[in-house]
Amino acid sequence: MKLMLKAPLLHFLLFCAAQTSVNADGFVRSELDKTVSLTCLTQGGSGTQAKEELVWLRNGAQVQLMDGNKHGSSSLCVTPVTREDNTATFTCQLKSDASVNASVTLDITYAPMLSGVEEVTVEEQAVLVLQCDIQSNPHVSVLWLKEENQLDLSVGSFVVTSNGFTTELRVNKVDRRLHQGKYECKTVSHVYGTRSKVFNVTVEDKTLKFPLMPMVAGLVVVACTALLAVASRWKRIAKVTYMQIYIHILTQDYHWKAF
Ligand SMILES: *[C@@H]1O[C@H](CO)[C@@H](O)[C@H](O)[C@H]1NC(C)=O
Ligand SMILES: *[C@@H]1O[C@H](CO)[C@@H](O)[C@H](O)[C@H]1NC(C)=O
Repeated sequence: MKLMLKAPLLHFLLFCAAQTSVNADGFVRSELDKTVSLTCLTQGGSGTQAKEELVWLRNGAQVQLMDGNKHGSSSLCVTPVTREDNTATFTCQLKSDASVNASVTLDITYAPMLSGVEEVTVEEQAVLVLQCDIQSNPHVSVLWLKEENQLDLSVGSFVVTSNGFTTELRVNKVDRRLHQGKYECKTVSHVYGTRSKVFNVTVEDKTLKFPLMPMVAGLVVVACTALLAVASRWKRIAKVTYMQIYIHILTQDYHWKAF
């Protein structure tokens, strides 16, 4: 596929890899892990303008170019295309005059990355949080299942929240009778079909937590006692020294007097 975007002096050509298509709104559509190559050409104007230096920007930030890839024509290769490249805008412009420019935005389609089984253990009365990454383009609809049936939010105080990135299932106080079992987050899409990730949740008995606070308090008491002991000994040592000095001075005094 090849498209020309007219700009005053720039012809913006997109030589795109096999599965790439370009639509009329300046979007280049491609898929994850494919390659998108963009070529920008100066055309028209005087001879010097045709050899002018070109600059590429990705979302407004300048892209480093090799020396032989700047004058008159310049190509960018985006490979492999990642999820972060979706909605990224690439702009080619004259270095000397940014008003001469052409842009395309990438439209990268990708499926939600959901698969596998995760073993989850949670203690009785603790908080249970299950999360799934549901990022995808186009967006998908999300569903939570428990034991193959759609989760009934009215039973078991489940709270489900979703944004475009993750969906989260939360239980604030786990009860084995209600919450142990197999959960599944499932995305449904006309493009990607269904994808899902399974959580095998086991609820364990509540264990007694190591009593950290009394332990700390105990340590402080011991430390203080030890300090006091040292301090009182120090007082005695200080007293002895004081007395010795005193006696010494007295003795000196005595000698002085004796002299
Ligand atoms: C790019 O060109 C358009 C006209 O084609 C102009 O409106 C816009 O300001 C230019 N961008 C910059 C950064 O100068
Ligand atoms: C889920 O966990 C239970 C208990 O640990 C185990 O017996 C069962 O095989 C697991 N199921 C799956 C599908 O992994």
